[in-house]
Amino acid sequence: MKITVAGLGRVGLPTAAILAESGHDVVGYDVNKRLVADLSSGRTGTAEQQVRDLARRALASGRLHPSSMPFPADAFLVCVPTLTAGEQMDVRALEHAFTTIAPLVQDGNIVILESTVRPGTTLALAERAFGALGRDLDAIHLAYCPERLLLGNVVDELVWNDRIVGGRRTIDAETARAIYVSFVRGDVVLTDLTTAETVKLAENAYRDVNIAFANELAVLGQSLGIDIWEAIALANRHPRVNILSPGPGVGGAVPAAARLLASASSAPSKLLETARRVNDAAPRRVAEMVQAIAPLGARKIILLGAAYKADVDDVRSTPARVLEKLLTQSGFDVAVYDPVVTHYEGNLVRDLDTEARDADVLVLVTDHAAIRAIDPTRIGELVRSRCIVDTRNALDLSAWRDAGFDVHVLGRGDTIAQEALLS
Ligand SMILES: NC(=O)c1ccc[n+]([C@@H]2O[C@H](COP(=O)([O-])OP(=O)(O)OC[C@H]3O[C@@H](n4cnc5c(N)ncnc54)[C@H](O)[C@@H]3O)[C@@H](O)[C@H]2O)c1
Repeated sequence: MKITVAGLGRVGLPTAAILAESGHDVVGYDVNKRLVADLSSGRTGTAEQQVRDLARRALASGRLHPSSMPFPADAFLVCVPTLTAGEQMDVRALEHAFTTIAPLVQDGNIVILESTVRPGTTLALAERAFGALGRDLDAIHLAYCPERLLLGNVVDELVWNDRIVGGRRTIDAETARAIYVSFVRGDVVLTDLTTAETVKLAENAYRDVNIAFANELAVLGQSLGIDIWEAIALANRHPRVNILSPGPGVGGAVPAAARLLASASSAPSKLLETARRVNDAAPRRVAEMVQAIAPLGARKIILLGAAYKADVDDVRSTPARVLEKLLTQSGFDVAVYDPVVTHYEGNLVRDLDTEARDADVLVLVTDHAAIRAIDPTRIGELVRSRCIVDTRNALDLSAWRDAGFDVHVLGRGDTIAQEALLS
């Protein structure tokens, strides 16, 4: 098939590349001219190694054509951004993509939206874009297929995840399925548009609620003086229990998706709103913990990790930024060390050794492998005070203690003096 993919970001580029590798003739359309120029000359940016390799193979095969304008095709996949850092849905890119491709869509073609949206959006966008041209939606196919890939493992997830395909009509879902089965090895399951839109938000909201529960358990663990990580691991031995991990807060797409679902009906969800409040409060809890355990006269804090999760360069809605602001407001000099992230709006530093020289508290925010591998003895020789807060239970407690560090683990009341927690 000829396929135009609109948006060549984290989702669109690997999708376009895998479609090309599966034998389709693909135009990758993006409004970012520099990205298109880079891809056209074989530069595939900072994506994961496997994505880079896949994209390079697709470009070299001549079946993936980066372009700053869309082209007529049998199928149009839309993968443009929809979620803002303010955790609202911004439909401008979607509206632009739909109105740009609508005049190119012939009768019998299919338009598939993959971006995360509030239920009802796919149909509303199509009605606006095609209605403005006097077109009848029955003449084209319309589907929504949410992307649920995990950053860091994108290529495997594209191939092996089950896909949910919602069609405006059954024939639309079936037409979309014919495209996905060309590269998906998981099941491709058909439903209607609104159900598919809701499924995507429900998956993210489920994680948000589950993490909020874990974060509340962490507070409990601290006040009971127990190790909540051990308690959660033991609870998860129950065959029908799967509690996620507490942490410094939730980033990535989850907060925005959970908010979209919370506000999707006329009766906003109290449970989802509460989960958001709990998770939004997590960085503040960490900031309070840091202040409580910081040595007298402490001035400089190094946050270890800017990304919202391990081993990705993604800082969307990262709790690191909130924590950095809170600690800065409290008068600390805060540096954020991250060996994986390249773009971050706060005070990102690359040379940990130099920064560590006058550090009073280290705070592990992201459990990147490179951060877990920091040698406590070596860093202990550099810092001004040997004090570390681990918000992910990622460190080898005894190794850090042996190196002379005062170690405080979020959710481990057994590592935190109760006077500090009460202050
Ligand atoms: N990144 C993920 O892990 C992930 C997972 C599941 C779902 N999603 C959803 O997929 C969608 C895309 O996310 P992403 O992470 O790939 O975004 P991204 O920001 O990485 O990339 C989006 C790309 O779209 C381009 N673009 C913007 N407006 C455009 C337009 N009108 N026409 C053509 N191109 C345009 C941008 O230049 C950019 O290159 C979002 O709705 C997101 O919520 C993302």
